[in-house]
Amino acid sequence: MSSPCYKRILCVSRFSKFRSTVKHNYKMGDARCISKSLAPLPLGHVQEKTVGVPLSELPSTAESLFSPMTIRGLTFNNRILVSPMCMYSCKDQDGVFTDFHLAHIGTLSLRGPALVFIEATSVLPNGRLSPQDTGLWSDEQEVALGRLVRLAKASNGAKIGIQLAHGGRKASTYPPFHHFEENSGRLGRGIVPNEEGGWGADIVAPSAIPWKNDGKYPTPNELTKDQIKEMVAAWASSAERAVRAGIEVIEIHAAHGYLIHEFLSGNTNHRSDEYGGSFENRIRFLLEIVSAIRSVIPEEMPLFCRLSGTDYVGGGGAPLAKDETGWDIYQVTELCRRFVQLGVDVVDISSGGNLSIVTKGIMAPDFGFHLPLTEFIKKANIPGLTVAAVGSLQNPKLADEAVRTGSADLVGIGRHFLKDPNWVYTAAEELGVNIRWPAQYSWMWAWRK
Ligand SMILES: Cc1cc2nc3c(=O)[nH]c(=O)nc-3n(C[C@H](O)[C@H](O)[C@H](O)COP(=O)(O)O)c2cc1C
Repeated sequence: MSSPCYKRILCVSRFSKFRSTVKHNYKMGDARCISKSLAPLPLGHVQEKTVGVPLSELPSTAESLFSPMTIRGLTFNNRILVSPMCMYSCKDQDGVFTDFHLAHIGTLSLRGPALVFIEATSVLPNGRLSPQDTGLWSDEQEVALGRLVRLAKASNGAKIGIQLAHGGRKASTYPPFHHFEENSGRLGRGIVPNEEGGWGADIVAPSAIPWKNDGKYPTPNELTKDQIKEMVAAWASSAERAVRAGIEVIEIHAAHGYLIHEFLSGNTNHRSDEYGGSFENRIRFLLEIVSAIRSVIPEEMPLFCRLSGTDYVGGGGAPLAKDETGWDIYQVTELCRRFVQLGVDVVDISSGGNLSIVTKGIMAPDFGFHLPLTEFIKKANIPGLTVAAVGSLQNPKLADEAVRTGSADLVGIGRHFLKDPNWVYTAAEELGVNIRWPAQYSWMWAWRK
């Protein structure tokens, strides 16, 4: 309400002598532009499915941040997605989505991104990162998710996706902001004791290697082959629930040192059976999950997979360094080739998170720090593969350039959507692109024009 733009618009109606000055001050995205975006809508029907779509022709024919894109049966209004972000906000430690999730996802989905991902949602109780995480293994959770999706889709053009996850040896920890005050503003996790809802004795991983060797983190139970089969079935079951709840995109969380990543990397997978050792064996668990999910979701539904592009172990932690027996971008690229055959459409590239002694990756502050990894995959020219980049891409020119230069096809934004839920409009203004706003939010800018 107090934004300068709003004040200027009020001036137009009440003090018409300022009209010409005010008009002169309009920028892209203010009333002059928005009024062009007003298309008549039938009475009683103000659901606008093209929010975030550019309204005039884009300045060049090259693909850019605001080019729409179709993957399988789904058309995305632009290239911007809200990256999955855990909110640690379930009320009763039951994994059930609450009204908080409704407000959070609802707010973001109204504001023009092509796709909003719901946070890492666990396929089993022991896969939650904290007791307050969301889950999708029960009917109650499915019903709550259905309500969330229905309401988030009530009046906007954003597609709603969900990230399915299992935290592996990093499960059963406190939310990062827990004890924030007592820790003098330091973030910390730490294992949640049983009396507070934790499950330290039921933490699982490919190998019995604790997250930290400080005596505070329990040694995880090594999954048996039968348990691996049950785990694969749990992923498929959650995917089925997601489809029934109205979810339009599923992302498999295979990054950040969680269960699947622990299998992928020789740094955390020391198994000697067919799920460990060689590259073929380490990727087996993930490929089984991919096939199981593909077999239960509609053909037209895009399937995403988030991968860490590297563990930052080889070559002094350089992003493109080799780590053949661990996890590196060369193995990731080879995995992407197999993905396309199995029906994964998009790889969403992040990094790190697999080793407590490595602090690089995930939320680093350096602008576009994952672009060398996505560029590497893009240069492999894998037919049918779409590549999403994420990580400090909040500068609209950088995000646009990433798409224009072919470093990535989609751009994920995390923290900056929390700071500025209108980031899509902010970016459109900065790039001089006129996009559609929800009718309910835009008509008043054209009032008495
Ligand atoms: C509050 C918060 C929660 C996050 N939770 C998840 C998550 O559930 N799954 C995931 O893959 N990444 C998660 N991340 C990482 C983000 O999706 C994103 O990759 C990262 O923040 C880098 O993007 P940014 O620089 O635009 O924030 C989280 C990040 C934040 C800030």
